[in-house]
Amino acid sequence: MTNRVSEILGISKPIIQAPMFWMTDAKLVAAVSNAGGLGTLGFNAGQTTVTRDVEETVERMRREIQKVRALTDKPFSVDFAASDDEDSPFTQPMFDLLVEEHVPVAIVVGDVAPKWFAKLHEQHIKVVYRALNPTVANAKQAEAAGADIIVATGFDEGGTVPCQVIGTFAIVPMLVDAVEHTPIMAAGGIVDARTARAAYALGAEGLYVGTAFLLSAESRLAANVKQQAIAADADDLLFYRDQPAYYRSLPGTMAKRLAKMSADGATRVEINAAHQGMRAMHDGMLLGDLENGIASFGLGISQIHSAEPVAAIMAKLDLAEEQN
Ligand SMILES: Cc1cc2nc3c(=O)[nH]c(=O)nc-3n(C[C@H](O)[C@H](O)[C@H](O)COP(=O)(O)O)c2cc1C
Repeated sequence: MTNRVSEILGISKPIIQAPMFWMTDAKLVAAVSNAGGLGTLGFNAGQTTVTRDVEETVERMRREIQKVRALTDKPFSVDFAASDDEDSPFTQPMFDLLVEEHVPVAIVVGDVAPKWFAKLHEQHIKVVYRALNPTVANAKQAEAAGADIIVATGFDEGGTVPCQVIGTFAIVPMLVDAVEHTPIMAAGGIVDARTARAAYALGAEGLYVGTAFLLSAESRLAANVKQQAIAADADDLLFYRDQPAYYRSLPGTMAKRLAKMSADGATRVEINAAHQGMRAMHDGMLLGDLENGIASFGLGISQIHSAEPVAAIMAKLDLAEEQN
């Protein structure tokens, strides 16, 4: 299926594999791009260790980008942290990297950043914008700032879940109606043809998918956690929050501890300290250690019953035959 989204991104199926920190790497990204979608390298893509060093971070990402290029000649994207208010020391060097490596698409998550949208456009890099907490106001702002595509994320998603409890069914038509001309992609709970069909029925023009690719054969998710997630349903996931954000995890010692702390009214600082920033996701999802880590998924896990190859997942999500 081709449409405005696939044309903007230069791909044959309007499907983005969403950024997912450590859980992305060149292999997953290239598999998605080779299957006609747009793979995305997230922060720490392909890595097993943490570095706070800016130069080292950039060089690690450069190597991962080059690995993608060795595996596919199709477009792919990189998660780019940009904010006009508070640029981190990583922002300019990561921007330079995108330019030097001719990355065709940047996924900008967080605040609308008109300065960076303009700089990306000057370099002919497309901007896919996703608010962590999507609202009518930030969708209009993103459109005014020239975002090429806007993502509407529902509470059904995995990862850091929006603070407002607005499900995918409500958020997608809300943003579709809020903008004048920018295509909206739907995120949160899209894992198969049924959920893809629903997203398009709500007015989305593309699918922004994390969990389904996390559970693919190609993903680097620890094998024990992959099996546990495939066997689990959405109602098995434990829920906790580090005010204002919400998180979900497969049950385990750390997740139970966090859920109890959250229920007992722990502060953001206390939850963060237990979570150790990104460490908990690294340990839970890369090392498969649910005693010390967490494993985050969206609510679509109920409909996933095996670790299928990316190409098979893409075939389910692509509604080309139905659209023709
Ligand atoms: C394990 C995991 C890690 C994630 N990490 C990130 C991230 O680093 N940056 C980001 O913008 N979104 C992140 N997300 C959110 C995804 O980009 C995307 O919005 C979400 O997966 C879509 O919902 P779905 O999981 O139901 O398909 C993450 C999601 C998961 C499941």
